[in-house]
Amino acid sequence: MSQEALPFEERYWPGLGAYQDYYRRSVEDIEEFWAERARELVWTRTWDRVLNSENPPFYRWFEGGRTNINLNALERHGSHGRGRVAYYWIGEDGTRRVISYDDLARYVNRVAYLLRETLGMGKGDTITLYLPMIPELPVFMLAAARIGAIHSVVFSGFSSGALADRIVDANSRILVTADGFPRRGRTINLVERAREAVARAKELGVEVEKIVVVRRLGLGIELGKREAWLDDLLREVPDKVYVKPMEMESTDVFFILYTSGTTGKPKGIMHGVGGYMTYVYNVFKWNWDPRPGDVYWCAADIGWITGHTYIVYGPLMHGMTSIMYEGAPDYPDPGRIWSIVGEYGVTTFYTSPTLLRLLRKYGDQWVEGHDLSSLRLLGTVGEPINPDVWKWYYEKIGGSSAPIVDTWWQTETGAAMISPAPGISLVPLKPGSATLPLPGIVADVLRDDGSRAEPGEKGYLVIRRPWPGMLMGIWGDPERYVETYWRRFSDPDNNVWIYYPADYAVIDRDGYFWVLGRADEVLKVAGHRIGTIELEDAILTHPAVSEAAVVGAPDPVKGEVPLAVVTLKEGYEPSEELEKEIRERVRSLVGPIAEPKKIVFATKLPKTRSGKIMRRIIISLIQGRPIGDTSTLEDPSAVEELKRVLGASS
Ligand code: WT7
Repeated sequence: MSQEALPFEERYWPGLGAYQDYYRRSVEDIEEFWAERARELVWTRTWDRVLNSENPPFYRWFEGGRTNINLNALERHGSHGRGRVAYYWIGEDGTRRVISYDDLARYVNRVAYLLRETLGMGKGDTITLYLPMIPELPVFMLAAARIGAIHSVVFSGFSSGALADRIVDANSRILVTADGFPRRGRTINLVERAREAVARAKELGVEVEKIVVVRRLGLGIELGKREAWLDDLLREVPDKVYVKPMEMESTDVFFILYTSGTTGKPKGIMHGVGGYMTYVYNVFKWNWDPRPGDVYWCAADIGWITGHTYIVYGPLMHGMTSIMYEGAPDYPDPGRIWSIVGEYGVTTFYTSPTLLRLLRKYGDQWVEGHDLSSLRLLGTVGEPINPDVWKWYYEKIGGSSAPIVDTWWQTETGAAMISPAPGISLVPLKPGSATLPLPGIVADVLRDDGSRAEPGEKGYLVIRRPWPGMLMGIWGDPERYVETYWRRFSDPDNNVWIYYPADYAVIDRDGYFWVLGRADEVLKVAGHRIGTIELEDAILTHPAVSEAAVVGAPDPVKGEVPLAVVTLKEGYEPSEELEKEIRERVRSLVGPIAEPKKIVFATKLPKTRSGKIMRRIIISLIQGRPIGDTSTLEDPSAVEELKRVLGASS
């Protein structure tokens, strides 16, 4: 990677010095700093304590404070600016909807009323939202938050099996879905998958009482007795109803969002009301430097944290006008994204390296011919961006004048943690580096033994101080929270608590951070986190499979894709049919995004003498690298066979 700085326009200089001054002041007293930042928002009661660190790592922010995100995302904009557009929604099939802040507030109030009065939901209840990218998704999120309910959004690309697990874990009695949605011109029948999930959840002991179905396509579907169309339910709700936002404790759970970890069971990441709100509001401002007239577009799916923070809560708290696009980025042609940018005059565009690689691959003819001159800021998230893709983005899309805000963060962190901050003062950029930690964030890179890595030395990224956007814990599993994020480098005896994100990183001589990739058994497929064990578990449900090892294989567009090495039980032979069935297992238990690119059959897996699968050997073989130390390998012939089968199938 090139570690050279790229100079930017005059107006952003002298960015580095000014940024560093601001940063230094922010970390002198983080509590004072964050208290100052929280005062920019509406609270119904001021906190008694900025940060409660009595029971680390269960930090609690703005204790005693009360608020509701609705007060800052809707009420705050008052009567002026209410006519301003919140979302320009564009359906894949060309349908359009324009939703003003006024429309949004009215809709949210009606749905909040419905949730509370008709469906009997209240504070602390969980509601699962399994919806495509339609305005009803932010509406239900805000409505749930308004009455103090906890939303759990499940990405609409997940299968019924994944949805069932999440309904059960969250103990959710209400599910909201849609009849279907268009994807690449085909119709996805979502309600069918939702029903399968509900049936499965029942087997697992959780009974969903009501499925609310949004009519997106008007498919001729007959609803069952526990199901109801949203528009029918809303007919019973007064048109101009006002539901007072429930005053929430800052330390109440705001929402849960599931993400993959190193076991088969997804983790319900819990974010808190006041901390998340404060962090997101400020980081959004630092990242995108909002200005009147901006048209902002975060081209993610709301089913991931990026969408929660950067399509829903961040932009709404800032009264931004956003684009919300329903469909595939390359449908009906690879120019779709750029034509929307041109048509709406998008000023701020935030996406993932995987999408950029896809669109670049189609060729520049799909970019040329669109007027992209409105773009003034670009962003990326999800994985390291290859410097050549960075250059393409900078030159072809940004016309060599829009800085690229490369944001490193996680579902767990709430919003960006390491990234340029044009809203404060833009530092010189280096293609492939997320640059410097944001204000209030104390990041570092450590060696295996916990000592600090030298500049240029690869190590583990860590965060040394709590921050308001941090997760409050894992839903129903406090022990796993401590184990996963705090055991690795903390020293509880001396009350030293260090957050471990499980990423490799390097700090260069200028103090810039280069995040290199995951340090655990989690893959990043098209920027989405997928646990290898989760996939192995799915594969192992097939009656013919004896053992499975899943690793990431490099992919030019998706970054990496799952590759599975599978051994079969006695009496089964490898076949194309079997391969198809195994793929189907993964598709239906996890979802199409997790489908292995390759399934390779072998008679044994490389294992240590203690029986642990040595995934790193498989990884070295597919990357054509030396396999390194094999002294712990139980049976060296496993490697010879793997070389053969991996070679044969590539
Ligand atoms: C993991 C978190 C945060 C929203 C999207 C993904 C990787 C994220 C970057 C970046 C290098 C990145 C890390 C991180 N990652 N952003 N700018 N440069 N790597 O959220 O699914 O929780 O994944 O994504 O590995 O740990 P997520």
